[in-house]
Amino acid sequence: MPGSVEALHTEFFNALVAVLPQLDHLHYGLSDPDDRAIWGAPRRLAQGPASLFERLIRLGDVQSLPPGAVAVDVGCGLAASGVQLARRFGLVVEGINLTEAQVPLARARVAAAGLSAQVRVHHADGRAMPLPDSCADLALLVECAFHVPDKDRLMAEIARVLKPGGRLLVADQERVGPPLEVMGMFFFGAEGTLARAGEAAGLSLTAQEDVSAEIAAWMSDYARAGDYPARLGLAAWASVGGRPSAAAAFLRGSRRFDTLIRAELAARGAQERFAESPIRRLREHTAQELREGVSRYVLQRYTRLG
Ligand SMILES: C[S@@+](CC[C@H](N)C(=O)[O-])C[C@H]1O[C@@H](n2cnc3c(N)ncnc32)[C@H](O)[C@@H]1O
Repeated sequence: MPGSVEALHTEFFNALVAVLPQLDHLHYGLSDPDDRAIWGAPRRLAQGPASLFERLIRLGDVQSLPPGAVAVDVGCGLAASGVQLARRFGLVVEGINLTEAQVPLARARVAAAGLSAQVRVHHADGRAMPLPDSCADLALLVECAFHVPDKDRLMAEIARVLKPGGRLLVADQERVGPPLEVMGMFFFGAEGTLARAGEAAGLSLTAQEDVSAEIAAWMSDYARAGDYPARLGLAAWASVGGRPSAAAAFLRGSRRFDTLIRAELAARGAQERFAESPIRRLREHTAQELREGVSRYVLQRYTRLG
């Protein structure tokens, strides 16, 4: 299905994972000021995203859940969060991922961690999950809501699988102003859209942290760390050695990504500022939006009403 959201995700994430096998969390991150001087080192790439996850589990008081409690990770990526939830808190995790290509990669990581009995990864849509009603104590929605156009359906489905009193933890970016669709892959809702969808579904927003400034700082560091795509190129050189198909997939994926972003930016009359490498520019673009207050990046905790 060329051009579909799933096809774009597959193309992009296949490429990304092929060249950066050390990548775990596929979400934005928070900058640790102490790390700034050496931020560019490739081994640091995953630390910002890992610290975002730490903030989220603190907000959700995840450690208060008993071992064996069930968590659903909606849009689980490579199951990095699921592995942490299982290993550190003894949770049973159901990972849900729409991008078929990521599912075997996620399962391989779960298996490598020795957690296959505790963490399952399903190829499924977060809007129609293969899970029974009221089965989960916790749900995670980390940088997935902004990939989903119909947020009402998504929140209703999460409410369905949560037990009464169950909690939902969200990391999401929303627009201050009208909604914005980018590249057919990102559907940033207007401020409060997700909370309203939650409220309608019986999910009450009980805590929220605005981490826009910290995310913007991380993105600026990321961009400043040098030519990130050049680093990707180096990583590709180092990591794909005997696997030319991985390098080719990266090049195809990044070119396609580039084309899509350029078309989007041209439609918005902003292409001049983004003539360079697309991945870096997308990050800078987002950082700028966050700095200028056009977008907000929020961590949220919801409770399923009884
Ligand atoms: C930015 S990544 C975040 C991955 C993961 N939550 C993490 O923090 O590492 C977005 C993920 O959501 C998945 N996704 C997008 N739309 C989805 C949907 N409708 N249902 C389930 N997963 C979806 C993508 O395939 C991808 O794995």
